Amino acid sequence: MHKRYGERTIYDGLDFQVRRRERWCVMGINGAGKSTLLKLIAGASEPDSGTVTRGPSVKMGYFAQHAMELLEAERTVLQSLEDSFPQAGQAALRALAGCFGFSGDEIEKKCRVLSGGEKARLVMAKMLFDPPNFLVLDEPTNHLDIATKQMLVEALSRFEGAMLFVSHDRHFLAALSNRVLELTPEGPHLYGGGYTEYVERTGQEAPGLRT
Ligand SMILES: Nc1ncnc2c1ncn2[C@@H]1O[C@H](COP(=O)(O)OP(=O)(O)OP(=O)(O)O)[C@@H](O)[C@H]1O
Ligand SMILES: [Mg+2]
Repeated sequence: MHKRYGERTIYDGLDFQVRRRERWCVMGINGAGKSTLLKLIAGASEPDSGTVTRGPSVKMGYFAQHAMELLEAERTVLQSLEDSFPQAGQAALRALAGCFGFSGDEIEKKCRVLSGGEKARLVMAKMLFDPPNFLVLDEPTNHLDIATKQMLVEALSRFEGAMLFVSHDRHFLAALSNRVLELTPEGPHLYGGGYTEYVERTGQEAPGLRT
């Protein structure tokens, strides 16, 4: 597929496939086109030409880089879950909220007062309620504290579906990837191993790494 914004070409004939059980981390400097790729795959953006095709049994969960900003400020945690899953019962949604760390009265908090980590947990609860088999995650751990991040890594390491994600967290990259897509000014580089093998092979770490 091809994708450009005005004069700026982001993808010039990118041909890329994610298969069952593959867990791709997407690396590249700020502005390399990581989020653009995830949006194209998630259907949140269209290529200028070419196509994005999803297998018939693919059920995708998408965590956008700025997903947390889309929560409605005046809705409570519970209302926000009800808005997303109008068919689900209150008990199921309360249980879901509980699993993601909202205990007791906390589900009555309005989204506008939630901390960054609480917002991220709410978005993740929505993403995982109806379990997907393909997760597309754009910097999901940015607002999480260490304990919550660890919990997420453990949960995702048990996830059996395919993944495509962007992260600047070394532990997240090393624990969860088995493929690397590196976006460079010369074009995309694909590696058949995970992040740890990538580091061993290239002798370099991901750009913009936070630890
Ligand atoms: N809707 C848009 N209109 C114009 N330019 C855009 C648009 N979306 C992204 N861009 C530009 O395209 C380039 C790639 O953006 P993208 O968000 O994919 O980068 P990224 O690799 O995710 O960066 P970061 O690490 O900062 O999240 C950037 O230069 C960005 O400014
Ligand atoms: Mg991005």
